[in-house]
Amino acid sequence: MALPDGPKAPSVWQMLQWIGTPFSFMQSCHRQYGDCFTIQLNRKFGPLVFFSQPEALQVILTNDDAKLFESPGTLNVALEMITGTQSVFGLSGDRHRRARQLLMPPFHGERMRSYGELIREIAEQVMREYGTARPFEAREPMQRISLRIILRAVFGLTDGPRYQELERLIGRLLDGLSNPLNASLLFIPALRQDLGPLSPWGRFIRNRQQIDDLIYQEIADRRRNQPVSKPHAASEPEPVPASRNDILTLLMSARDEAGEALSDAELRDELMTLLIAGHETTATALTWALYWIHLLPPVRQRLLEELESLDDNSDPNTVFRLPYLNAVCSETLRIHPVALLTFGRVTRSRIELAGVTLDPGTTVTGCIYLAHRRKEVFSKPEEFNPDRFLDRHYSPYEFLPFGGGVRRCIGMAFAQFEMKLVLSTVLSRFDLALSGTREVRQRRRGLVSGPSPFKIVKIGARGGVSAGGRVGVSA
Ligand code: HEM
Repeated sequence: MALPDGPKAPSVWQMLQWIGTPFSFMQSCHRQYGDCFTIQLNRKFGPLVFFSQPEALQVILTNDDAKLFESPGTLNVALEMITGTQSVFGLSGDRHRRARQLLMPPFHGERMRSYGELIREIAEQVMREYGTARPFEAREPMQRISLRIILRAVFGLTDGPRYQELERLIGRLLDGLSNPLNASLLFIPALRQDLGPLSPWGRFIRNRQQIDDLIYQEIADRRRNQPVSKPHAASEPEPVPASRNDILTLLMSARDEAGEALSDAELRDELMTLLIAGHETTATALTWALYWIHLLPPVRQRLLEELESLDDNSDPNTVFRLPYLNAVCSETLRIHPVALLTFGRVTRSRIELAGVTLDPGTTVTGCIYLAHRRKEVFSKPEEFNPDRFLDRHYSPYEFLPFGGGVRRCIGMAFAQFEMKLVLSTVLSRFDLALSGTREVRQRRRGLVSGPSPFKIVKIGARGGVSAGGRVGVSA
């Protein structure tokens, strides 16, 4: 098969670099081989061709609905060990399209906006759990906030023992994958050996089983308490009881063309997908945003001035539209895209793309990390500069933190909404500062990336301005 040039090292060595030092690996490949290069990870994954030029990304992401490329879920096997085989990640073709149609609406429009007050409330509540003048890991509250939000959206749970257990176990599962050794489990199936509860895989599967048990218990409770179903058209969701607007209720009421409901295993896989995809990524983006805002005083000052222009009754939509807050969130996702790559797409026939010839069956990926560092698009790309998003509009193939095409992130609007409301609440309610002098670097976190640990400290509470509306949380 004709492939663009790339590193010649044995695939096992390339895999180790991809797991341990993905950023320098991508940059050195880019320096040596140019915009388009091929890496070889292992036989199962096969060669993977990287593209980061906007013109090439546009071709890939506007033709991945089977015109020139396919977007097979089978390529996303690395996620299977967490989200199972029936998650939207793993589905292809019509089944994939149907799953997206079902999962998208709760994360958009009115349904999404109905979470606005809750997001502010949770952000304030979690930040109040931290005492003044005692440094803490910046990631911790951001993870708690985003997990609480997604648990509420997915299950309608906000409190109680099952909720607290889920919060603890999911946090532990993902933290467990944050070091390169454990992250290797995702990429190298041969390492998945259960050598007891202290071994990496043994710990992982026991942890996952505990989460599954809780999810299945929740599904069983819901089935027991489900109202008797009324006749309804096949492929139409049953009417959702007004009292419940969470995603589990919605998924349980969905029917396929044959009138069949999702099985417990299918429900489990979709729920796990939303819990994992829906909080880890946003928590990481929020942690990076906190870092840059507190590292660069002029950025924080400008944000505070913008937030002070709001009155106490500003609604979440007004916060969502604040230009500088939007620029800070975008710049955070540009300089540190949480997902380094889009999912793989596969060529359906022989094509010419950005000067290279690709045979049918070649797996290509959009390299978000390198696309966001192109000097001709983003001047001084290593600098955190929100103004670039005020000065110019970037196309969806120049700036693509959420991917694009048929697999574009389902939670894109929700994640941006959540980031803005959490940041505006935290900044306008609390005075924070970075603590310590530890250098903060981007590093692998499981399948995605995130900052190395760093601490922040609460200096005090800010009284006056709210992020738009007072929230009903007592101190
Ligand atoms: C800052 C936060 C987030 C980032 C940076 C992010 C990024 C991404 C990226 C790059 C993709 C792959 C797109 C492609 O291949 O073209 C993706 C897919 C996906 N994301 Fe997100 N995401 C975020 C938040 C969320 C949230 C909040 C949810 C759910 C509520 C979510 C659910 C998903 C799902 C289900 C997919 C798979 C879509 C499919 O296979 O059709 N993500 N995300």
